[in-house]
Amino acid sequence: MVGLGLAACNSGSMRRNPGRVYAPDMTYSRAYDAYTSNPNFADSQTSRLPVPGTIARGHELPDHLKEGDTMAYKTFTTSMRFSDDDMVEGKRLFDIYCAICHGPNLDGNGPLYASGKFAAMPANFKGEKYLHMPVGQMFAAAKYGKNMMGSYASQLDIKQRWMIIAYIKKVQSQNGGDAFTFGVGPATGGKTATDTASAGKAQANATDVKSTNSDNKKG
Ligand code: HEC
Repeated sequence: MVGLGLAACNSGSMRRNPGRVYAPDMTYSRAYDAYTSNPNFADSQTSRLPVPGTIARGHELPDHLKEGDTMAYKTFTTSMRFSDDDMVEGKRLFDIYCAICHGPNLDGNGPLYASGKFAAMPANFKGEKYLHMPVGQMFAAAKYGKNMMGSYASQLDIKQRWMIIAYIKKVQSQNGGDAFTFGVGPATGGKTATDTASAGKAQANATDVKSTNSDNKKG
């Protein structure tokens, strides 16, 4: 009885017979399916690689610089601007990834360093040496590391790195550093053409600010 049931349903562990086909063009795809062979390409592969130079959405920021491009990184920047929520997130990320060394107060005296187990003094972001550090140089440190500090490129994506830097710059601006420029809000003086263009877009669609963050055309 059980055997008859299985035979009738054409089931069991493997279904071998697809049964009657009423609409073949629906049963058998007319398009080339992914991972099938394709006579239209020299390598016979249907799945294609992206065109060389393709940049994934969200990664439009032209960070083409390489480790050791120290001078170039000093002038490297972003046109990303962050809402209050983003700034809270920047602090959260800093507290997770950076505060253990750089300190929750950004004074370079984090618990790991204070414990004496980490030999190198982490940067004191409130100290004169770092107070006016270019943001691009900070970005390079987060991406490649610096001497005893490791790289955070695999833990933090580009936007998250800039969020953390914005948070550091915010705290610095309240401790004698340069004026804070990462906030979203009414346009201030001294902006470049690209910045003005994206600021206009941000105003036109304030709720879309986050998703247009990355359309930076400045290098
Ligand atoms: C394991 C400890 C440690 C952690 C965690 C750490 N840093 Fe550092 N960081 C250091 C040390 C040590 C230095 C000083 C390096 C030097 O100048 O020799 C430093 C230097 C820096 C500098 C100055 C770079 C320069 O060019 O002089 C920046 C900016 C920085 N860190 C940012 C960050 C950020 C952002 C994070 C979190 C994503 C972070 N650090 C996490 C230890 C750490």
